[in-house]
Amino acid sequence: MNFYSCRKSILWIFFLTLLTISFAPVHSQINVQEIAEKSIGGMSKETDAYIEQLVKELSLTEKVALCHAQSKFSTKGVPRLGIPEIWMADGPHGVRAEMSWDSWNYAQWANDSITAFPALTCLAASFDPQLSNEYGLSLGEEARYREKDVLLGPGVNIYRTPMNGRNFEYLGEDPFLASKMVVPYIQGVQKNGVAACVKHFALNNQEHWRDIINVEVNDRALYEIYLPAFKAAVMEAGVWSIMGAYNKFRGQYACHNELLLNKILKIDWGFDGVVISDWSAVHSTLEAALYGLDLEMGTGTDGLGTTTDNHYEQYYLAKPFLKALKSGEIATAHVDDKVRRILRLMLRTNLNPHKPLGSLNTKEHQRVARKVGTQGMVLLKNKNNFFPIQDQKNTVIAVIGENATRNMTAGGGSSELKPQFEISPLEGLKQRYKNATVIHTMGFESGPSVYDQVIPGRLDADSLRLKAIAFAKKADVVLFVGGLNKSHHQDSEGDDRLQFELPFGQETLLNKIHQVNKNLGMLLLTGNAVEMPWLKNVNGLLQTWYLGSMSGHAIADVVSGAVNPSGKLPFSFPKKLKDNAAHYFGDESYPGDGVNQYYKEDILVGYRWHDTKKIKPLYAFGHGLSYTNFKITNVKTDKQMYSPADTLAISCVVKNTGSRDGAEVVQVYIGKPDSKVKRALKELKGFEKVVVPKGTSKKISIDIPINTLAFYDESRSEWNLERGTYVLFVGNASDNISKETKIFVE
Ligand code: BGC
Repeated sequence: MNFYSCRKSILWIFFLTLLTISFAPVHSQINVQEIAEKSIGGMSKETDAYIEQLVKELSLTEKVALCHAQSKFSTKGVPRLGIPEIWMADGPHGVRAEMSWDSWNYAQWANDSITAFPALTCLAASFDPQLSNEYGLSLGEEARYREKDVLLGPGVNIYRTPMNGRNFEYLGEDPFLASKMVVPYIQGVQKNGVAACVKHFALNNQEHWRDIINVEVNDRALYEIYLPAFKAAVMEAGVWSIMGAYNKFRGQYACHNELLLNKILKIDWGFDGVVISDWSAVHSTLEAALYGLDLEMGTGTDGLGTTTDNHYEQYYLAKPFLKALKSGEIATAHVDDKVRRILRLMLRTNLNPHKPLGSLNTKEHQRVARKVGTQGMVLLKNKNNFFPIQDQKNTVIAVIGENATRNMTAGGGSSELKPQFEISPLEGLKQRYKNATVIHTMGFESGPSVYDQVIPGRLDADSLRLKAIAFAKKADVVLFVGGLNKSHHQDSEGDDRLQFELPFGQETLLNKIHQVNKNLGMLLLTGNAVEMPWLKNVNGLLQTWYLGSMSGHAIADVVSGAVNPSGKLPFSFPKKLKDNAAHYFGDESYPGDGVNQYYKEDILVGYRWHDTKKIKPLYAFGHGLSYTNFKITNVKTDKQMYSPADTLAISCVVKNTGSRDGAEVVQVYIGKPDSKVKRALKELKGFEKVVVPKGTSKKISIDIPINTLAFYDESRSEWNLERGTYVLFVGNASDNISKETKIFVE
């Protein structure tokens, strides 16, 4: 090698070294995988120390990048440090199909179909926390398999009005029931290394004007009615993320609400997870930075996307946030707190090296979906034992109604699903009835729907009706399958229902059918109460909700009698809309004036209102019949006098006096007569579902901590347990009490 070539080689080596240095990842002291390995099993002081290390290592730009979306449903990681992206999916009844990177269009993947589980109203109606855990576990397995880190659900907004288009996604009108059901669901989901994201925090109790309405509600109703299920999700289930709501509360948007997020959620409840915005619910950089939001999702992605290169950089918690941090307008402590929470979420989910693989569309998931369906269906009426319908030769069963065949996992908004299959009620019944002949006709047609519009039906309503009447005439039994559906203004996100009655001419049709065939029963597919002036014309009425993949099989189980129904209503069915507390007070209370609304019914929501004001509902909270009969006897408390730290044990005997095995839900309500504050006549404080074989009895005992009898004292801003006499009401529905008994609290 001569001098020149040698010099050339040296230069090359020098150049290559430079190149390597400039393009090699910056080597930090941090090994994220190692941190993750050591952080398994929850958060510890050690984990916090690791998170601090990471916070020190990250640049301001990298920190800000963690606080907002990079696509419709994902966030950016920091590749240089091995910090991954976070992937999210709706929730809450199954894992939603893959969405496009930057639009609400589906990505049209071929491998993203899933098991659709029953709607949460049905789960609530099962009154079975163990089953809720199985639901969460199965759903979490599907989310893990689909490589989702955050499942956007469950929803626990309280059922305040039957007009709310989104009630089907929630757990009913009672804060105690919702709390008991949401905790095991979350635990089940999170066992899979998938964060549940409980939503929508808080007071998103209607869809109409959800983006603009300011909710005014007093502290008692806030703490006693609207917050308990969220509190249980945080403090009992240890939920890893929570979604802010669209609406305002006391003048400030819920996604950056100082009282809700900073004070109540993070300080009082000690929430250590991530507050995720609802999609496009953020309105200010400063407020989002200061008032509790951690992660901004969905902001204006439809409009901005066409006008800027990377509109995600324009998010409130993106460039404007970085600028304010750099200028010192916002202290770095704020971004650090958000980043700590986001890293903690990752250590619990995508960075957990031992997270399971998950599974999809398994037989077990289908079993759970079907079981929730059969356990949650509510037999509202059963005159002359209309149900179960026997499978007899030479019997014609006319199934009439569009809901018998309509796909109910499509539509409804963000909870829409792409199930691997969905057994319709008609299909389920046809498969089940081997001897009887099942015939079907539509009877009415609602028209197909895309997300926010309904295309009017193409078929002629009169001829549909005439055909249905002809079918009814020749049938031995008529099963009308109706209700609402998942179209806009029905049970669907984005707006509320327009009418309390059944839509699409169903009432007229039902009455006409009744004129030609009195052996008429109804399957009501809704997530909401409906008005029932036609009730006298049906002998049997089964509330079947929306049941997902296994819908038809679950319905056939109960209709045929293979399963004895045991569901109980998780909300009241008022006779008229005005009988509902929110509607009683007029527009100011619901839906508001477009700016404000006032929850004037205060703490008297649902059955609390009906009971206290003595306004009889059509069907009461907790109501649900069985094919057998039960008797609740021997109701006893363990003592008469209790101190605040005690737990009261109330026992009773449930006797199955009928001729079939079955399950009953014993419900314990407690009231405080002569209270110094306004109180509901009674409130649910305990329940237990018990399986009792025919002809046998079972003794059960329900524990109720005495401190749960406290009311929220606005004058002291804390819970206050009054001394004195309390009345316990034990029964199998809020309007069917077998025994009242008294206790004394010292
Ligand atoms: C809904 C959320 C949902 C989100 C993402 C919003 O419109 O309110 O519940 O998780 O969209 O789809």
